[in-house]
Amino acid sequence: MASKKKILVTGGVGFIGSHTIVELVEAGYEPIILDNLSNSKIGVLKSLEKITKRAVKFYENDCNDISALRNIFRIEKNIVGVIHFAANKAVGESVVDPLKYYHNNIGSLVSILSVLQEYSITNLVFSSSCTVYGQPETLPVSESSPILKAQSPYGNSKQICEEIITDVFNSGKAIKAISLRYFNPIGAHESALIGELPLGVPNNLIPFVTQTAAGIREELTVFGNDYNTADGTCVRDYIHVVDLAKAHVKALDKLFAVKDEHYHDVVNVGTGKGESVLSVIHTFETITGQKINYKIGPRRAGDIQEIYADVSKSLEVLGWSAEKTMGDAILDAWNWQKNLKNLNLV
Ligand code: UD1
Repeated sequence: MASKKKILVTGGVGFIGSHTIVELVEAGYEPIILDNLSNSKIGVLKSLEKITKRAVKFYENDCNDISALRNIFRIEKNIVGVIHFAANKAVGESVVDPLKYYHNNIGSLVSILSVLQEYSITNLVFSSSCTVYGQPETLPVSESSPILKAQSPYGNSKQICEEIITDVFNSGKAIKAISLRYFNPIGAHESALIGELPLGVPNNLIPFVTQTAAGIREELTVFGNDYNTADGTCVRDYIHVVDLAKAHVKALDKLFAVKDEHYHDVVNVGTGKGESVLSVIHTFETITGQKINYKIGPRRAGDIQEIYADVSKSLEVLGWSAEKTMGDAILDAWNWQKNLKNLNLV
């Protein structure tokens, strides 16, 4: 039997990373996690073990620590690809502390790319974001839409990272890379053993909704209802995290199928459907039977009005499209919220 392909997954204990570990194991890859636990909990490893029924190798290191990175490649010997999730992602924090974002998000990618070159490994899947589009002029937004000036250092770090990969590609060096531009990841694994773990008060909509329903937060504020959308609230493309995780497996499969040692592409990962904040809240209430205590507040600085993905390229290039519904994602997120107290993730 051919041995399994070893894939280094940076940030593999985090929200999208942990779900991707499950799908990689399922697909016959051997993931190895590198995570500094700066925004994740070590107990997630136990949950991963329960779901996958095997231990997943874990290194507690920072991606910016190039000697630690080299060490992992030396010890593991035959790593054949990297999925690079590890990054800071809080938009507001990035405005207050931009250097943290440039140092961590850009520095870690440069370290990874350097070590990949040293070890003559070409395959890289990079976590990018639909934030690179800003507020697009036409919807749905496709990969060929212009990249507008980033609204935050976080967004800028994603744009710069994509450019760095492009520059390495343009240098003629051997590299095979796919940057996945995620829309809004939500939901949790259906086992309710892994999910989103915001530290402190959540910034993102769904964790705020589930925490409000669970009584942890008193009230949800809808950030503005005077946008030029059907119900006045912002519209996003919410993608179930398990579907998103599967897109990473498809991206790896694609990289291994491409014979040319010089390949780079960017692909949207979304559902193609736009949902307003109010429709998310009402779907939550319908599906779970829980009322959400919410009020309409002012707009949040930096929010864009409306974005959703043109998903034709993900189907064409990766053979991937979203399978789960908003209802699935909401139910899974709610079950995860309810199960959290039973898990010791510290
Ligand atoms: C943001 C980032 C995105 C990043 C993602 C994950 C931008 C433009 N987007 O997405 O790049 O990948 O976070 O961290 O920088 N909302 C409320 N009340 C709340 C929370 C949110 O009304 O308490 C609304 C927001 O105004 C928005 C929608 O819900 O319209 C989704 O917000 P959120 O979950 O924070 O994601 P984004 O801002 O779209």
